[in-house]
Amino acid sequence: MILDDFGRESVTGEQQSASQPQRIDRYVGQYAERAVDMVASEIRALFAVAARPEIVSLAGGSPYVAALPLDVVGEMIGQLIANHGATALQYCTAQGDAGLRERICDVMALEQIRAHPDEVVITVGSQQALDLLTRIFIDPGDVILVEAPSYVGALGAFAAYQANVVHVPMDDDGLIPEALEEAIARTAAAGKRAKFLYTVPNFQNPAGVTLAAGRRHRILDICRRVGLLVVEDNPYGLLGFESEPMRALRADDAEGVVYLGTFSKTFAAGVRVGWALAPPAIRDKLILAAESAVLCHSSFSQLTVREYLNTQPWQEQIKDFRELYRERRDATLTALSAMMPPGCHWTRPAGGFYVWLGLPEGINAKAMLPRAISSRVAYVPGTGFYADGSGGGFARLCYSFPDPDRITEGVRRLASVIENEIQLRDDFGPPRTPATR
Ligand SMILES: Cc1ncc(COP(=O)(O)O)c(C=O)c1O
Repeated sequence: MILDDFGRESVTGEQQSASQPQRIDRYVGQYAERAVDMVASEIRALFAVAARPEIVSLAGGSPYVAALPLDVVGEMIGQLIANHGATALQYCTAQGDAGLRERICDVMALEQIRAHPDEVVITVGSQQALDLLTRIFIDPGDVILVEAPSYVGALGAFAAYQANVVHVPMDDDGLIPEALEEAIARTAAAGKRAKFLYTVPNFQNPAGVTLAAGRRHRILDICRRVGLLVVEDNPYGLLGFESEPMRALRADDAEGVVYLGTFSKTFAAGVRVGWALAPPAIRDKLILAAESAVLCHSSFSQLTVREYLNTQPWQEQIKDFRELYRERRDATLTALSAMMPPGCHWTRPAGGFYVWLGLPEGINAKAMLPRAISSRVAYVPGTGFYADGSGGGFARLCYSFPDPDRITEGVRRLASVIENEIQLRDDFGPPRTPATR
């Protein structure tokens, strides 16, 4: 079987010549300029190989949905169609189901957000909220400030609207306020104005770090002072291992923050239900943009989530997910400490899915990947998380999907690949690849 970049089964050579005689895109000169920057992300391109059973994939960030009581969820969905099928299978409004929006306000209250259901817009995962926000705010060349490194899907959406992405450094406590001030000043000095700051404050994807409580007010103050909108993307906030959920940025600024949430990590990624909580003017634009994109979101998915929240012990389920991911995080950190060669360093996530692994000087994660795949382990090179393709000295390891034994085996294989790479570097010097950091 041949798999293409998107993990689909592709046709054989013979079939191809019969059904698709030309391999070169005949429309290549006709796409809109914005489509030129639309390329498969590093992660997407990897899914096909990483899905092979012999490979331990520390690459894609899939949640472990098999931990859900699938029989109970199946029963619930059967009842939903039997009792509310005529609504669940019908169109609805672009803003989304009112009952679900009410329940979403209960979910956000866990992070001390007080919100009214009218302020919530349902989206197809938080990914669509990112797309819609970029669509309503960004003209080509407009600046978006983002953490360095940042979520690959957000970078993809920003590139699709030809944004000028400016990275702002982080440390183990998340986004650095002074660096944010500098980036704002540099942007202004270049005669531009940043349209928004995009941040993942909790258990960040890909770095695994969390914005320290003491920094949250400072970040908000800086943004308020210059009128910079904050987009707070928070898929992992309820998946902390060591403490109660942190207070959301949105809890302290209803006018200056658009908050994005999703059920992908706390319930099921496949239902594709997320949301944006936005000040009224932005909310109205988001609804119009959603209408033109999809008319309305899936009523079936929305009612499934509403039913789940209304009838199932969802907070208990989140606790179970936390325990499961904590065990996998522990397995990852233990294996890294035991096996990684000198010169490697990594973050210690207090929640979420990701560890950010720094490689020894002169080792490039992108150049090393084919060797890792041959050794049956996959990761995502750091380059996928920078708009300018830097980050080659890092790899993202995701521990959410493999069980602890597989994680340990994966880290063992990766450590051995890195050791070989060090040997090559010492024998022949660093590879002639783009900058390693
Ligand atoms: C930081 C971040 N934002 C947004 C998303 C998109 O999630 P979804 O569209 O499934 O809600 C993800 C998924 O991994 C993510 O890590």
